[in-house]
Amino acid sequence: MHPENTMNELDTLAASARELFAQAATPAELENAKAQFLGKAGRVTELMKGMAQLSVEEKKTRGAAINVAKQAIEAALTARREQLAEAELQAQLQAEALDVTLPGRSRGQEGGLHPVSRTLERIEGIFGSMGFAVAQGPEIESDWFNFTALNTPEDHPARSMHDTFYVEGGSPEAPNLLRTHTSPMQIRHAVQHVKKYRALLDAGQAMPEIRVIAPGRTYRVDSDATHSPMFHQCEGLWIGENVSFKDLKVIFTAFCRTFFESDDLVLRFRPSFFPFTEPSAEIDIQFQSGPLAGRWLEVAGSGQVHPQVVRNMGLDPERYIGFAFGMGPDRLTMLRYGVNDLRLFFDGDIRFLSQFR
Ligand code: PHE
Repeated sequence: MHPENTMNELDTLAASARELFAQAATPAELENAKAQFLGKAGRVTELMKGMAQLSVEEKKTRGAAINVAKQAIEAALTARREQLAEAELQAQLQAEALDVTLPGRSRGQEGGLHPVSRTLERIEGIFGSMGFAVAQGPEIESDWFNFTALNTPEDHPARSMHDTFYVEGGSPEAPNLLRTHTSPMQIRHAVQHVKKYRALLDAGQAMPEIRVIAPGRTYRVDSDATHSPMFHQCEGLWIGENVSFKDLKVIFTAFCRTFFESDDLVLRFRPSFFPFTEPSAEIDIQFQSGPLAGRWLEVAGSGQVHPQVVRNMGLDPERYIGFAFGMGPDRLTMLRYGVNDLRLFFDGDIRFLSQFR
């Protein structure tokens, strides 16, 4: 056989092996294709067997040439094996792929603090920094705490069925109405405080000052854009031996300026009347700049605690003097956020409330 023919024949054999390997789409197909060339009855094996009749010289050249072809075929097989394994790995990776570029699933309706709760937290924080404790009291009150103890006469208009929600089965001493203001907490808290220091007081010694605020829900038969049958109040009480109206002005001015984050704010104490304070004053504020500038806005009632009320607390009005204020957190929230209808706070409409998250 002519050496060129030999080369061509073996080259063709390697080429057809490469082609068949390339056509094998799976490892199993590839192993079948391999058997056709390198198996026991494979074509390379056949060629080897065919050398039996050749001379020693011829065996050398022919054997070397067949070996080259065999190695080429084996190399092609290994390459294709690796290709198929790589393809399989890629397919598996793709099938199990996690798309980490996908945006996370939103939690949807994430909650937030109600705007009025935010205001209450601010109020507690600011008064807390001025040494005021926070007290909480019942929303179903007795006639005594809501009216009588606060020097509110029987025929006071605030007692009328029109203003007050009464509950069935109560008595003037037992819970019989929904508190119309947080002022009953003046009595409740002071009585508790005084009880604690009774021994000191009886020995003629000084009692620690009372400084407390009492935020919470209050109720009146009233409903329009600026009144809701349920609304919020926050009471403030400061009782000591050396407290004066000046102190009330100082702390309330500091409170307003901190609450509204503005020194550009003036206060006015406008003479008024409350049965449980004497003298009494409405507290108005006026912004000097911004959208509300120039208007007097009423934010609280206040006054010196009436001597009869001090007595009802168990204290001697000749020795102890108190100042009280009651503000409307709903109103403060409206002013702070520019909301013009109070009812929006209590409708529970998520579109409105979510703006404050
Ligand atoms: N309780 C009064 C009201 O509801 C407000 C007030 C509180 C006034 C304390 C004076 C002192 O209108």
